[in-house]
Amino acid sequence: MEEKQNGIYFPLDKINLLLDTPKTDPKEIYYSIENNYDTIFTWDYSKDRTKIIKLYEKAKRSQWNPSDDINWNLGVDVEKSVLGDQGPINTDKFIGTPLEKWKQKEWLEYGIETKKYTVSQFCAGEQSALMYASKIVETIPWYEAKLYASTQVIDEARHLDAFTRYLEKIGGGYPVNSNFKNYVNNIISDSRWDIVYLGGQVIAEGLTLASFSHMHAMTNEELLKDMLKLIIRDESRHVAFGVVSLMEAYKDLSDLEIKERQEFAYEASVGLLGRFVQIEVWEKMGVNPKNIIPLVINSGKNRFLRQALFTKVVPNCKKLGLLDRNDGWLRKRFEEMGVIQFEDMELTDEEI
Ligand SMILES: [Fe+2]
Ligand SMILES: [Fe+2]
Repeated sequence: MEEKQNGIYFPLDKINLLLDTPKTDPKEIYYSIENNYDTIFTWDYSKDRTKIIKLYEKAKRSQWNPSDDINWNLGVDVEKSVLGDQGPINTDKFIGTPLEKWKQKEWLEYGIETKKYTVSQFCAGEQSALMYASKIVETIPWYEAKLYASTQVIDEARHLDAFTRYLEKIGGGYPVNSNFKNYVNNIISDSRWDIVYLGGQVIAEGLTLASFSHMHAMTNEELLKDMLKLIIRDESRHVAFGVVSLMEAYKDLSDLEIKERQEFAYEASVGLLGRFVQIEVWEKMGVNPKNIIPLVINSGKNRFLRQALFTKVVPNCKKLGLLDRNDGWLRKRFEEMGVIQFEDMELTDEEI
């Protein structure tokens, strides 16, 4: 399990850090983030940022309603869809591990719990996007961007609405992953408006967009496929908004200021990978996460999935000029991670 050829390798010291992070209390209902930032008004109503205005017009025309545009009467057979998504399990690979006695029944149960966990984290992600989109409305000094960001607020509300309804349909849920909660805390509490953009619009939405696109391509479930199709269209617009805005904001920054953003982009990307470590799922399955996660986290499939998450983030960082400044600091980090090959991939479905 130590081979290092393909995909993103997760170092063991990072796994131990994740395993030792206190988990969210399942009884937690409210969570507060302390904030200190300026709410900025502008009296300059000119619309010179044509790309942002174009996105704003498109956003207004692309509104949809989870109550009307998703057929909630479609049945969701979780067992069937998990079996379809999971494919055949090679149980021989687990001989000598805590999973060697697992039969199809346990693997199916694990697949169902993984799905509930993943959708629960999507709900937390959509709610955090709702929060930072509304913060952008207040903190961005540009009139055009305030107009656009307001459309993202309602987009994210619809996504949250759709995912929570879907979660209810598949039954139950999991608390928010505490690593993700820390990440959201860091970006939302930062008083610099561009960091909210970089951490939210470019990194978090970029990883989410890749993750939704993968799920959309893999699932055979009609309801989920329909829902993701509508959501993906919005998310690619959100990423485009982040990139267009930051291209303008970053073009005149000094090397030192860019270095801070490069470091942030790297730490944020690596930090967000912790969101996909399903400690609670293993606990629910009666397996000690410390005994199993280090064994499975670097399997070929998991490494490949982690790598695929970067198909949007790397080209967008390039577009922002973050890859090559300061002697290619971020390029080197992405090379080490094995994701630099995505740098020239098509950016988003939106024209930037
Ligand atoms: Fe969203
Ligand atoms: Fe979004």
